[in-house]
Amino acid sequence: MNTGAATKMSGLLLRQLGQRVLLTSACRGLVAETSANLRHAGTVGGVRYKSSLATDAANEEKAENTKAISSYWGIAPPKITKEDGSAWKWNCFRPWEAYTADVSIDVEKHHKPTNLMDKFAYWTVQTLKIPVGLFFQRRHMCHAMLLETVAAVPGMVGGMLLHCKSLRRFEHSGGWIKALLEEAENERMHLMTFCEIADPAWYERALVFAVQGVFFNAYFLAYVVSPKLAHRIVGYLEEEAVISYTEFLKDLDNGSFKNRPAPAIAIDYWRLPQDSTLRDVIVVIRADEAHHRDLNHYASDIQCQGLELKEAPAPIGYH
Ligand SMILES: [Fe+2]
Ligand SMILES: [Fe+2]
Repeated sequence: MNTGAATKMSGLLLRQLGQRVLLTSACRGLVAETSANLRHAGTVGGVRYKSSLATDAANEEKAENTKAISSYWGIAPPKITKEDGSAWKWNCFRPWEAYTADVSIDVEKHHKPTNLMDKFAYWTVQTLKIPVGLFFQRRHMCHAMLLETVAAVPGMVGGMLLHCKSLRRFEHSGGWIKALLEEAENERMHLMTFCEIADPAWYERALVFAVQGVFFNAYFLAYVVSPKLAHRIVGYLEEEAVISYTEFLKDLDNGSFKNRPAPAIAIDYWRLPQDSTLRDVIVVIRADEAHHRDLNHYASDIQCQGLELKEAPAPIGYH
């Protein structure tokens, strides 16, 4: 075996092992030193293709930089285990952020539009519902996945604007920043759950890209102009989410949509039994949507009564 080939093999082995085994700072130093030696060997080891040499060097440098930054700041990957001692595999949430969904919800609950603002919010959502229904029909998985990409936006926009307001006015938010950011994260976890089951097609990804661009800006403007209208619109959107997940459950029950085991991320996030199914996941997601419905109508009601959100403590942790 010539020096070039040996260098390449050693480099590959180090890169593989380095991520899994060599985690201590002492080992990081060893990796850096060995990599430097290997690079030196590569320069004197005879003929190699330039592109191959450049790629290897870039990869080694990237791996080295990652380790160097991590080492320099004293940050190491957290080692978290579940209650049974097995490794916790999710970086996006921790065991103490998992929860048992309250499924004792009223799926029929509806805020009857009374004033002009309510009617505007209600009919805006009813109008948006038409093209969405025509596009997805009974393709529940696709429908759920794409709508979660939209549903996760309002909480983030509202939370961000309340955050800025709190800074500008030197005042507390009453917990509403946290409550709205929690809602956004909860919606994003719905999406991450569906991502474990289905993979969107290229045209669906393009649709999400376009819809997000329009919806983010429209909701931002709506929240700046009238937060109570923005919350009312989300309240009605969540009512529709509850209805569409109820339809999903109906099709799972009548066999027109095949049930399957629940994704592992859902079992950990909602503390579900190991033998849970997709149906169990849809039940807890629907419960979350009902809570978002209630929270947003409540937020709008507070402001419709002439109060500011901060005057009514936010229901933090209300999933
Ligand atoms: Fe959702
Ligand atoms: Fe929701």
